[in-house]
Amino acid sequence: GITRHYDFNIQMANVTRLCGTKSIVTVNGQFPGPELTAREGDRVHVRVTNHVAHNMSIHWHGIRQMRTGWADGPAYVTQCPIQKGQTYVYKFTITAQRGTLWWHAHISWFRSTVYGAIVILPKLGVPYPFPAPHKELTPVIFGEWWLSDTEAIVNTALKVGGAPNISDAFTINGLPGPLYNCSAKDTFKLKVEPGKTYLLRLINAALNDELFFSVANHTLTVVEVDAVYVKPFTVRTLVISPGQTTNVLLATKPAYPGANFYMFARPYSTIRPGTFDNSTVAGILEYRNPGSLSSSSFDKALPIFKPMLPYFNDTNFVTNFTTKLRSLATKQYPAAVPQAVDRRFFFTIGLGTLPCPKNMTCQGPNGTQFAAAVNNVSLVLPTTALLQSHFTGLTSGVYAANFPAMPLSPFNYTGTPPNNTHVATGTKLLALSFNTSVELVMQDTSILGIESHPLHLHGFNFFVVGQGFGNYDAVNDPAKFNLVDPVERNTVGVPAGGWVAIRFLADNPGVWFMHCHLEVHTTWGLRMAWQVQDGSKPSQKLPPPPSDMPKC
Ligand code: C2O
Repeated sequence: GITRHYDFNIQMANVTRLCGTKSIVTVNGQFPGPELTAREGDRVHVRVTNHVAHNMSIHWHGIRQMRTGWADGPAYVTQCPIQKGQTYVYKFTITAQRGTLWWHAHISWFRSTVYGAIVILPKLGVPYPFPAPHKELTPVIFGEWWLSDTEAIVNTALKVGGAPNISDAFTINGLPGPLYNCSAKDTFKLKVEPGKTYLLRLINAALNDELFFSVANHTLTVVEVDAVYVKPFTVRTLVISPGQTTNVLLATKPAYPGANFYMFARPYSTIRPGTFDNSTVAGILEYRNPGSLSSSSFDKALPIFKPMLPYFNDTNFVTNFTTKLRSLATKQYPAAVPQAVDRRFFFTIGLGTLPCPKNMTCQGPNGTQFAAAVNNVSLVLPTTALLQSHFTGLTSGVYAANFPAMPLSPFNYTGTPPNNTHVATGTKLLALSFNTSVELVMQDTSILGIESHPLHLHGFNFFVVGQGFGNYDAVNDPAKFNLVDPVERNTVGVPAGGWVAIRFLADNPGVWFMHCHLEVHTTWGLRMAWQVQDGSKPSQKLPPPPSDMPKC
């Protein structure tokens, strides 16, 4: 591989959406930010310079970061933030991954505007395991637009302890599209020719919503998720959770030269509309008239077709979709599912409450503050970086490696009233020795509302070996686990009122964050971290931090 160099300048830019202009944090003044392109095996150096008044850090979501934990990016986990006027060069190698990933700010809620695509092409000369597409289209990144400032949104979620603000629009590549006020001119368009197959990369960068996505009159063949190939399957609508990426093949019709088709994305939620933004972002798939090759042949006044999306709370549809996802599990792309397990963990994933801090008005039940936790622990980040103290061994006063392997409060999904709302704050890590084979069952407790939680693990891919609804049954459910071709990914939806089981091999020394990718839940504390110890060989140890590592 070669080394790819990128310069990311964090700077403010004025952006006009939904009839108003606001100043947002961007990379290089672009919104969404620049695309990062590399091949499997390449080294990537991104020189990030912060020119804004906010502390910043960037996470390369889904990049394995084998022994380069210092470049992972979550603020106060693997690094201190990059302060105004400072530069930090993120250096990492792309190992055995190909497909689509993405990068985003990993501090406060700045990922609301600071994000972009990572396109990883296969090694030179290595074909895709599916028929070669005619062309690769511009990645489609779903996001949200907020009329208020990022800080104001976070304050609502954290300081007031209330329900989160609802975003003002969903976007495709930053554009809300014609179904929102003042936005017809801000519509994402994909230009295609009839009778061809295109590779379309989809990224869900939205802060708080799982999305349905469909293109009118077209089918989508899913070929890859989270930069891992899957057994191809064809759908009219797909589901994508915050943090997830999906590559599809889009076959255009031979018979519709010069027609336009809407693509729609809208949330999936089992809670009632009104508590989330149930609006639709629309983009347009535009067919080029085959008679002419000039771009003026895109006719603006053509008939337009609309897709049908499932009902907002169609959980059956979502389950059906996610259970279709399977690893290729071929000789060339094997599924390295850990067959034996060294350590088993059971985590409850859920919402709860904490006493309302002094001088605050809280909007939780009985005047409490909303909180969220893993095994009843709501993680408080330190004022230094966890990885730094792990590396130096000076952990006292920063964290303790005493994260509970089981929930602290008993859990019973069918019990009434719910008995797992107890939340305690703490900075606890779960220590694993090098190369531990882990099985983790995550059970949603669905206390204050029924929602799925897209759980994201940094530093690893995991295999989704099982999922189900109701209480996880430790006696009978494991017999149904798929240990042959489960999907391999970095973010999985823990179903509302259900559970998922994942397996991974702890072969990457460092401190690795795991959290719900719904930003409001991360803020409320639905986050924890694994501390993976060094192995005995030099090649199994985390190297020292780079010299330009930011200081707290
Ligand atoms: Cu995409 Cu820790 O995040």
